[in-house]
Amino acid sequence: MISSLFSPFNIGTRELKNRVVAAPPPSLLAESDGWVTPQILEYYQKLAGCGVCAVIVEGATISHEGRSWNRQLNVGSPDSLQGISRLAEKIRNKGALPLIQLFHGGINAQRGANLSVYGPSENIQPKILAKIIAMTPDKIRQTVHDYVSGATLAWNAGYSGIEIQAAEGSLLQQFLSPVTNMRTDAYSIEKSGGALFLQQIIQGIKSACPDLLLVLKISMKDHIPGGSTLSASIKTASSLQNRGIDMFHLTEGMVTGNPLQLHPTLGKNAPDSPFAEDAQTFHHEITRPVILSGNICTQQNAGSRLKQNTADLISIGRTLNRDPDWLLNAHIEIFDSTRRKCLRCLVCTAASTGCPDQPGTNLWLLQ
Ligand SMILES: Cc1cc2nc3c(=O)[nH]c(=O)nc-3n(C[C@H](O)[C@H](O)[C@H](O)COP(=O)(O)O)c2cc1C
Repeated sequence: MISSLFSPFNIGTRELKNRVVAAPPPSLLAESDGWVTPQILEYYQKLAGCGVCAVIVEGATISHEGRSWNRQLNVGSPDSLQGISRLAEKIRNKGALPLIQLFHGGINAQRGANLSVYGPSENIQPKILAKIIAMTPDKIRQTVHDYVSGATLAWNAGYSGIEIQAAEGSLLQQFLSPVTNMRTDAYSIEKSGGALFLQQIIQGIKSACPDLLLVLKISMKDHIPGGSTLSASIKTASSLQNRGIDMFHLTEGMVTGNPLQLHPTLGKNAPDSPFAEDAQTFHHEITRPVILSGNICTQQNAGSRLKQNTADLISIGRTLNRDPDWLLNAHIEIFDSTRRKCLRCLVCTAASTGCPDQPGTNLWLLQ
């Protein structure tokens, strides 16, 4: 057994049974308008059955405006409560803590012909064809309200926590990045590092649902010229950790255009755990626990990252899609070298459709 993967971890009043969390790559199994389907229930039941301590359900849109890909899960309407509750129940029944990610795509939101999208500023972005409208303070207030409503719905649906997506092509990342945030008001990079919007969301969620576990997914570096840096993200995290964030989920990169398109830092040629070194620095500077994500392929690598105190927990995305027995095998220390490793390709658009390298051998085999 790789013991560091299996030691329990306490967060507030909750005990996580081990150190491995299922990351939220989208399953694309919701209905076209975002409702829960039997397929998505089955998918998450299987994912929770992999033995992970928690499952972060894929980025669910908090509003019609924030919707960013087809078949994206929806928490922006009270009508979704029943389906979202059943999803939480399936995960909990398999022994994992259910969390759900709240997503707004900002300038990356889907738009039909002649539609505009909202972002921090009106500046032109390569790959964004729609007209970008800078959010007014009223629009920001409305969006804070949408986040709080989404979180309240998640709480009422039985989730132990939510993850606020402030990385991977989300509106909140666009506020934190100097590349997309050119504002000069209180929401600007200059005045608050672009974090005032997040502070208001956290404050709203904490007063509506004080017991909800709050995880923030944050990009430690944008990896684009003029983008956010490690020191800026540490500064942001320091300003947020005492406002109610319980845990940080660490990634890197910034995507504009299609949020289903992964940043090259996570592509085929990325090394094992490419963000580990920055995560170690981040972890050292921040008092809240952190989850390390990204290209963590082998159980041995995962175990040693935990042992070295790079992070408190790790999250696994595509690897778990390729190999649902990954954690079980770490327990019994069977490392089957004939089992082909995940190729980390950029076309793994959804766990449920299986791996393009293994046609016909999708381990999930959803009907
Ligand atoms: C096609 C695709 C879309 C993704 N979309 C999201 C997302 O919406 N929210 C999120 O937190 N992570 C998203 N991810 C990132 C995964 O959750 C995970 O952090 C990432 O794939 C790195 O972990 P892995 O190398 O173990 O897959 C996506 C990943 C893929 C492959």
